[in-house]
Amino acid sequence: MRAVTRIILSASALAGGAAAFAVLDAAFAADYFNGREVYELHCQSCHGFDGRSMDPGTPDFTRGESLFVPDGDLYRQIRDGVGAMPAYRGLLEDSEILDVIAYVRSLQQ
Ligand code: HEC
Repeated sequence: MRAVTRIILSASALAGGAAAFAVLDAAFAADYFNGREVYELHCQSCHGFDGRSMDPGTPDFTRGESLFVPDGDLYRQIRDGVGAMPAYRGLLEDSEILDVIAYVRSLQQ
């Protein structure tokens, strides 16, 4: 399964009120299979096998928890971290973050 993802990062969210939009590689096709590898390596220890989290403080992706936001928001959360969720800036390439987003979106049941 290959999802074609269009990511539009709102520059206003990044730079407080700026009206411009940054388009991050509009033709980028997220690689679900690479996303699964990234997930198993970096995310599964907390978010669980197939996204079924065992810790109530960690979103369960099989229930779609935390997934009702645009890809740009997920991108920023994964890049910058949220609370106990570590930041992946410098650890994952932008394309790997987009791949893992495509994968976690597929886990919802
Ligand atoms: C050390 C454990 C841990 C690892 C590793 C981890 N997460 Fe998380 N993640 C969490 C916790 C805990 C939260 C809840 C954070 C909060 O709401 O305070 C979370 C939240 C999230 C959220 C929702 C953020 C929000 O604002 O609602 C997403 C999306 C997410 N993680 C994706 C990932 C992805 C993708 C990876 C792998 C690249 C990953 N996480 C790795 C623990 C982890």
